[in-house]
Amino acid sequence: MMDQIHVCRDGEHLASYACHWLQNQILWHSRDEERNTRPFVLALSGGSTPRRLFQLLAELPAGRIDWSKIILIWGDERNVAPDHEDSNFRMVQESLLSKIEIPAENVLAVPNPGGNAKDAAKQYDKLLGGLPKAGESAFPVIDCVLLGMGDDVHTASLFPGTKALGEQNRIVVENYVEKLDTTRITLSAAAINAARNVAFLVCGEAKQTALSILWHAPRNPQKYPAQLIRPTDGQLWMLLDKAALGDTPLPQNVMVQMI
Ligand code: 6PG
Repeated sequence: MMDQIHVCRDGEHLASYACHWLQNQILWHSRDEERNTRPFVLALSGGSTPRRLFQLLAELPAGRIDWSKIILIWGDERNVAPDHEDSNFRMVQESLLSKIEIPAENVLAVPNPGGNAKDAAKQYDKLLGGLPKAGESAFPVIDCVLLGMGDDVHTASLFPGTKALGEQNRIVVENYVEKLDTTRITLSAAAINAARNVAFLVCGEAKQTALSILWHAPRNPQKYPAQLIRPTDGQLWMLLDKAALGDTPLPQNVMVQMI
């Protein structure tokens, strides 16, 4: 499938458009007789960009999204307690979970973060391993993975030169990030690439260089991990604002919409 690149006016427009776009993904899932027998699995990204999207999702009229049919997982987590200011869970708790009616069993957060990252990753890998799989795949069907991208072209907690980049079998791994001197917990690129939809949300002028590298630098995933993201059978979406795009030439063979 051709990559879809949708360019919004600014950050607020991007968040609003992504909220609309995600509702459509959920609606299409609900109307797909083969897929709607299972919940829509949504992997949430961390960092700061998605916060506004999550706030807008929380502000939708009650019932617009049937959260009882949505399972939330985390694309990555910092190895800190869930109430720590750096916690991706806390960001989602504050911006979304605290404002919607979603069954607790639908919120599959990283177990026991802040302690032994290897144990937390192993527990999370086992937990997500219990989600429905498609055919012979070793990976759960994730209907939508939301991703951010760092200035160093990392995504999730797949950072340049780190061990997790080579993970082909596990859904979730711990990943020591030397430059941060911390161990993160992250979906593997293989698990992300098994998803039905993968959507990068990239916003702001500071991301222009990273976006240009992602699209136009020679392929070097060890150096530019976001280049690892290439859904096997799924659709890749790039939801951007104009500031992130700048005057970067668009890649070949993509579908572009100026929203
Ligand atoms: C994290 C993220 C990470 C993030 C990028 C972009 O836990 O930090 O998952 O991959 O998406 O670093 O972060 P911003 O949205 O804050 O620019």
